Amino acid sequence: MPEILKAFSPCKIILFGEHAVVYGYPAIAMALDLGTEVILKESDKEGVNIISENYGISWNPNSYEKTPLIFKPFKRVLEIIAEKFPQKAHLLSCIEIKITTKAPPASGLGTSASTAVAFTAVLLNYLGIDFSQNLVNEIAYEAERVSHGNPSGIDNFIATYGGIIKFVRTKQGAHFERLDISENFPLLLVCTGVERRTKEAVEAVAKLRERAPDIVNRIFKMIGEISERAWTMFRENRIDLRVLGDLMNINHGLLSAIGVSSDVIEEVIYLLRENGAIGAKLTGAGIGGCVIGLFRNWEDVESAKRNIEKKFYCLTVKPQNQGVYVKTLM
Ligand code: PMV
Repeated sequence: MPEILKAFSPCKIILFGEHAVVYGYPAIAMALDLGTEVILKESDKEGVNIISENYGISWNPNSYEKTPLIFKPFKRVLEIIAEKFPQKAHLLSCIEIKITTKAPPASGLGTSASTAVAFTAVLLNYLGIDFSQNLVNEIAYEAERVSHGNPSGIDNFIATYGGIIKFVRTKQGAHFERLDISENFPLLLVCTGVERRTKEAVEAVAKLRERAPDIVNRIFKMIGEISERAWTMFRENRIDLRVLGDLMNINHGLLSAIGVSSDVIEEVIYLLRENGAIGAKLTGAGIGGCVIGLFRNWEDVESAKRNIEKKFYCLTVKPQNQGVYVKTLM
């Protein structure tokens, strides 16, 4: 009987601290109950046939065609696994891997990281290699570097470990603290419909920082303090939604100050606030992508959603405490 494996890894939102995290300040990310599913099946076709359901295209690394852009991170994962485990490399053949992401791509929800994490996990599991989260995270980070240049690594951490994390990247490496979070976190996610491009946004912020280093560094410091204050509430399990909402609003103002908001993001922010959000901010790299709104309760989320979805795509999302997992289907 041919083996069939399924891996799942969550997408994420950044609650606090994007951009500042690139410069060593803390950020907080939360895993979502939507993410990427990767199904691995044994097949009679030579090589590793990778099918992207979302893009409707497939690719085989053994073929002579140039690697399409979206498959480059997978190629990197396959190379790393073959380098790290040369005795297993011959087993990377006659398999089909189908990837389906249930989140809008290029919207700042970490779809590339959740895909890289699920893809890595399913392969390691198939090859019978000890399935450690650390190893999955380490390999997926290399795939993220192919997609995004020099990412902080927060996306692959949250896609691997789930829950809610405080993440800090220093010159010595990445540190994180992880907590489970209650499902009762009344959030609405609104997509601007404008693709966000992490690399460009990060570069634009870097240029601004070159022009006004002292001011931009002070803004990053404040963003870091916001993350720390929010994390204390999560860690002590004393979440005051009102205060959390205030911190989101202030964090958004600081992100606008460093130039990563846009007219459409501001339109969504004010729509959320007019519809009862007690906190609203862009999430992820900005310029496009998604905006998150925090509400007092789920009734308020639903009523805001009914109004806002007349113009923008909205999603109600819940936290997901389980990180990446792999199941045997057959
Ligand atoms: O939009 P996303 O999910 O790619 O988030 C990027 C977050 C940044 O802090 C802007 C960059 C990074 O590498 O952390």
